[in-house]
Amino acid sequence: MKKGVKIAAVGLSSIFLSGLAVAQEENIKEFMKYEVLNGQYVKEEIPVDPNAYLWKTVRGKKVFLYPQISVRLNDKQANRLIPKKKLVEAMVKVAYNNDSIAVYVRWKDNTPSIQTVYDTNKFADGVSIEFPNSFGKGITLPYVGMGDGNHPVTVYLQKVVEGRDYQKVFVSEGFGSLTEIKEPAQIEMKYNEKTKEWTAVFKRPLKTENSNLKAGLVPVAFAIWDGSKFERDGNKSLSRWKFIKLGKYKIDEEYLKYVSWGYPADKIGDPAKGKKIALQNGCAACHRFDDQLTAPQGMAPDLSDIGGIANPVYLKESVVNPNDVVIRNLNPNRHYNKHAKPDKFKAYPNNDMYQWYIEVNGKKQSKMPPFSHLSEQDLKDLIAYLSTLRNWKNFK
Ligand code: HEC
Repeated sequence: MKKGVKIAAVGLSSIFLSGLAVAQEENIKEFMKYEVLNGQYVKEEIPVDPNAYLWKTVRGKKVFLYPQISVRLNDKQANRLIPKKKLVEAMVKVAYNNDSIAVYVRWKDNTPSIQTVYDTNKFADGVSIEFPNSFGKGITLPYVGMGDGNHPVTVYLQKVVEGRDYQKVFVSEGFGSLTEIKEPAQIEMKYNEKTKEWTAVFKRPLKTENSNLKAGLVPVAFAIWDGSKFERDGNKSLSRWKFIKLGKYKIDEEYLKYVSWGYPADKIGDPAKGKKIALQNGCAACHRFDDQLTAPQGMAPDLSDIGGIANPVYLKESVVNPNDVVIRNLNPNRHYNKHAKPDKFKAYPNNDMYQWYIEVNGKKQSKMPPFSHLSEQDLKDLIAYLSTLRNWKNFK
């Protein structure tokens, strides 16, 4: 891996002035260290069985998943547990050959939970991985919570449901816009009573109708559901975008430069200044974060743990160009306008204040104004600050 970094850095230094290249090297090193999962090339068929010998020989890396708080269910019982949640630590391994790629995910869960047919208050443990349908040079990162209108993703989902093998593949453009598809994917998930761990292996062809993963750096993200905490749908834990390195393919230097922007996020700027910038620019009028909890819940995504689930470059784009990724309203029907006239079924219309976007000529436009006037340094301070936000325990 060291060699790969060096080659990439040398390539970049020829593009940039030497002073800049030093800074580049630093952020690429950090990015490689924390965000890149090394895919191991193998010649043989890759087993889907999590207990197969091959998986003992592949080196893994830890991935952290944060409780997703922007999505709230109409379920007090589930919401109440959010501040008590812990980070989910998953061990991730990747193997690939000339045709297929397989991703192994292992995590601790002391309370294996299986959804039964009869008990509607019992929810399934589950896991999913997603890949953007397109990525690479010139293509921005999707919303990590299952894509958005400009960035469809393919999601592979496995849940533990009694009596059937519940696995699905979707193309998703965000909440409420899932299309189930048929892909030659295989998934297997097993529980180990001794170690109290779940392990799942996802295997798919490198190239499918929807996406081609034959690339040096492949974005991937993870979600895990803990059924015993009533988790289901958007109530889950979520990783940020990680990147699988496939050594057989060349890393596009422009893409590497793009995705490694802002690493390490706590060093690109001053978080204390960044907080001031957030307050001066009125972010707290719509968002809740840190000790800023006055915005009505649901008016905009809750940013209390945004530093855990968002990559620095994604944060930058969210602030400068909110229309590139427009997050679909997570729970639009939770808020009603009780001042308006109810319809014939005595139901009030939705309260527009909680709608996250408007449609202009059929295109979604974010209600968030672009903050493209911020200076480069103010922007870096702001991103440094947003990256420190990993305090879902603040959730109220
Ligand atoms: C007028 C209300 C409003 C203001 C002011 C506002 N935002 Fe937003 N923001 C939104 C809405 C609505 C969304 C979700 C729609 C979208 O994707 O743009 C959003 C999305 C975001 C996201 C993406 C969140 C995610 O989960 O991916 C970030 C990050 C963000 N805003 C940061 C900021 C920052 C930083 C400021 C201040 C500089 C700010 N916002 C000011 C309304 C606002």
